Amino acid sequence: MSQQKFYITTPIYYVNARPHIGHTYTTVVCDALARRHRMLGDDTLFLTGTDEHGQKIERSAAANGKSPQQFTDEVSAEFRGLWDRLGISYDQFIRTTSPEHKRGVQEMFLLLQEKGYIYKGSYTGQYCVFDELYADDNTPGTPCPVCGRPTETVQEENYFFKLSSMAEPLLKYYEEHPELIYPETRRNEVIAFVKSGLRDLSISRTTFKWGIPVPNDPAHVIYVWLDALCNYATAVGFGSDDAKDKARYDHYWPASVHMIGKEIVRFHCVYWPAFLLAAGLPLPEKIVAHGWLLFEESKMSKSRGNIVRSETILDVLGADALRYFLFREIPFGQDGSFSFDALVQRYNSDLANGLGNLASRTLSMIHRYFEGAVPEAAAKFAGAGEDTACFDPKTAEAAIAGFSQKFDEFNFNGALVDLWSFMATVDDYITKNTPWKLASSAEPEAQEKLRTVLYNCAEALRIITVLAHPVIPDSTKKIYTQLGLGDMAKADLNSLAWGQFQTGTRLGTVEAVFPRADKSAIERMQQMEEERKIAAAPAAEPSAPNTAPVVEGAAPADGHMPLAPQITIDDFVKIDLRVATVLTAEKVEKADKLIRLTVDLGFEQRQIVAGIAKAYAPETLVGRKVVIVANLAPRKLRGIESNGMIVAASFGEHGTPALASFLEEVPNGSRLK
Ligand code: MSP
Repeated sequence: MSQQKFYITTPIYYVNARPHIGHTYTTVVCDALARRHRMLGDDTLFLTGTDEHGQKIERSAAANGKSPQQFTDEVSAEFRGLWDRLGISYDQFIRTTSPEHKRGVQEMFLLLQEKGYIYKGSYTGQYCVFDELYADDNTPGTPCPVCGRPTETVQEENYFFKLSSMAEPLLKYYEEHPELIYPETRRNEVIAFVKSGLRDLSISRTTFKWGIPVPNDPAHVIYVWLDALCNYATAVGFGSDDAKDKARYDHYWPASVHMIGKEIVRFHCVYWPAFLLAAGLPLPEKIVAHGWLLFEESKMSKSRGNIVRSETILDVLGADALRYFLFREIPFGQDGSFSFDALVQRYNSDLANGLGNLASRTLSMIHRYFEGAVPEAAAKFAGAGEDTACFDPKTAEAAIAGFSQKFDEFNFNGALVDLWSFMATVDDYITKNTPWKLASSAEPEAQEKLRTVLYNCAEALRIITVLAHPVIPDSTKKIYTQLGLGDMAKADLNSLAWGQFQTGTRLGTVEAVFPRADKSAIERMQQMEEERKIAAAPAAEPSAPNTAPVVEGAAPADGHMPLAPQITIDDFVKIDLRVATVLTAEKVEKADKLIRLTVDLGFEQRQIVAGIAKAYAPETLVGRKVVIVANLAPRKLRGIESNGMIVAASFGEHGTPALASFLEEVPNGSRLK
């Protein structure tokens, strides 16, 4: 047993968005690595959590009519709930709003201050609230270098971190630790970025409150990235006076692997190492950046409406189908594409027909021919040999070594390709030996061959199951139990050598692990995604907010919905609200919230789909005047195109809709201003 420490982290996810398969990707990659290290006997700590401070969260909370604390509590719980449903084996879940984390961040601030790396200065620059990033270019209106959104001009007296003085130490560190940043392309980009010169970094803000106060100067909150990055250290006890926490910190810090998406490389590979070097603290051993998961070739985003939730896949195909797809389909480090078609295809070919088929063939033959007890291989056919019944142990040893090496180098899809090609060798071996024919022969040699073939298949299956366990934990656990091997948690990756399967082991009950999925699975998942989108949207469409200001850090005392962020008149005039009359209305089949309407705008008629069926019977709508958002991009709901949106107030716990209407007679097509 290697008994090494293995401390792995995911990024902590912003709670302004709900979890989707992009977040799941990073998390399952870390989960598989953590599982593999536990199976190697390593002292493993797997950390994940949520990033809950900053202006972006404050604004999202307001837009959702919640206090920041209530909003972060809810979304953080959603992340945690999803990880639990997915069987993510995290050991610790950190929230940046926890008192331990806050104290640790303030300690870090004080430490950097004490070491002379912090000063107060004034700042005018461009800031992207979405990425919580200062643009290098200070020209007003410059787009964010990461997401391209317009930056906002911020002018403040701030605390600054002397990042400019860290360029040389950083370059020296990268040089001396070539293993720090992976893959190589990211390392090269980081070095080029640092070589191009670093400017001091503003590390406090005064224009909003939702953050950790600067020690001794509470008018400032600490820059959200300094706050967030510290989570990796505060989670294991950094900043605590308690002896136990200190010991824990000394034991686990520095982290073995920070796993991140490629868009946050700068924060992890420049800022974080710079803070740590300045504070005199050890740097993480490795920062690994993966690529982006795209949906059918395009970036997933709320505005494109193409975000895929993991829950949909969990409900239809189970967690392992998603996990296997993510590892097998995406060349690690590069961008990869997700689609429901590709998911189902991969599931059927590799899991249902591949592993599932090998397991059910092997297990059912052992049941049929040997009453469910693993037979003994005949000495005569043991090891490599000319006879088709011989199975060269070197094939298995090469598969084990190849898989392990590739997996540990983050080449997950390569590792799985190799393991599945080993599986194909075993399938071939079965086909060549036709055990069903051997079984029907009374010849002693045929019986010896049959024993050997089925022993070898069971042994190969054991090895495949143990190796694949970190990637597809649920199904391998089932196969392992069916093999009669008991508790998979005790499976040890260090003792995988060929020939360990105990003859006479009694198999468990055999059941199909991966039932085949047909086309309807794809349709079901697509439909569920649409329903989820509708459910996540306000019941009808957004209501006019009340007028009281947002109360920070607490739910408004009277329960009113706080105001959405301020907009200008220019923003408002972009929304074209028109009066229309409902001509027809009918319920959308198999969608209990939806009504399909045709409305008359005076100058044209249109079809609109609205989520108001729980509040209105379709026939009561015909002839009624309504207000619609007439210039909203068309979108499909349940396959039906909706060309606009009906305006309604939303009230009560369940967001009951009430259609906006007029006391006066208003002609169709009139604009609301
Ligand atoms: N809160 C910061 C991270 C702070 S870490 C100290 C943040 N949060 S985030 O919610 O935006 O999560 C970003 C991470 O989620 C990415 O780095 C990546 O790990 C994962 N992904 C989110 N969408 C993704 C894809 N579409 N594809 C792959 N991973 C993606 O940034």
